[in-house]
Amino acid sequence: MKKLTLNKAVFPVAGLGTRFLPATKASPKEMLPVVDKPLIQYAVEEAYSAGIRHMIFVTGRSKRAIEDHFDTSYELESELEKAEKFALLKLVRSVQPDDMNCAFVRQPRSLGLGHAVLCAEHLVGNEPFAVLLADDLMVGLSGGPSVLAQMAAQFEQTGQSIISVQEVPAEQTRRYGIVAVDAASASNPGLMKIQKIVEKPAPEVAPSRMGVAGRYILTPAIFEHIRKQASGVGGEIQLTDGISSLLDAESVYAFQYQGKRYDCGSKEGFLEATVELAMQHPEVGEYFRSYLKGLKLD
Ligand code: G1P
Repeated sequence: MKKLTLNKAVFPVAGLGTRFLPATKASPKEMLPVVDKPLIQYAVEEAYSAGIRHMIFVTGRSKRAIEDHFDTSYELESELEKAEKFALLKLVRSVQPDDMNCAFVRQPRSLGLGHAVLCAEHLVGNEPFAVLLADDLMVGLSGGPSVLAQMAAQFEQTGQSIISVQEVPAEQTRRYGIVAVDAASASNPGLMKIQKIVEKPAPEVAPSRMGVAGRYILTPAIFEHIRKQASGVGGEIQLTDGISSLLDAESVYAFQYQGKRYDCGSKEGFLEATVELAMQHPEVGEYFRSYLKGLKLD
């Protein structure tokens, strides 16, 4: 049987980031750092860890910093080299490993996540691909595979589209795509066939409390299903609606990953990520834990 490998990842990064104004007035929200790395770099490293080497960014105006971040910085590198700061030089170069390539395509208008994915169609072509929303910072279990690597391993078995999900509180169904699923098999309890998917339903009508997190592996058939969609929730062309239509043609699976999701599209999630990742950070973790212990919290 042909091995099902993923070669390409799409990063929709054209959003305005209004929830983080004024920080995002002139800089992309995906460049906000959690400790010392921008959100987009966490997502790219996750895709790389899943074996993906072609990164496709769907950008918009005022997103230049993302392109620069994944490009060579000659001035910086030559200054670091001259100053013999080799550890920093290695760190800077590690952002774009030699075997990784990046392509950038513009989403000319904010027409939604589904539309952003369609903008990458000509670069993806007729092959399966991953979609990573950098707002969702996903951390696998300590020492274990990343969330996308876990999904890629599932994809190798099924060859069908897979979406990462997690339980969300009832009052939060309006923030996420929500799925209804068949029972999982005993041999693979994390993987469930999706019966239904709805974008941001009210709790009263939500088919479950299983919310979509920002990691998808999709077959290329998704493109024709997105193209058929009229605008949905928020007047936007929704990826969720495209997936709902794909369900009529192909099986799509929900996957309960091992690890943790930080919703860095919200200030609360961003702060949680910052505190927890700082506590684990090899350089500042020990200091930061003892600092936190000394805080008076009431
Ligand atoms: C998007 C998707 C939604 C998904 C969410 C995950 O929403 O439309 O289905 O649950 O990402 O973060 P957004 O956060 O862009 O509003």
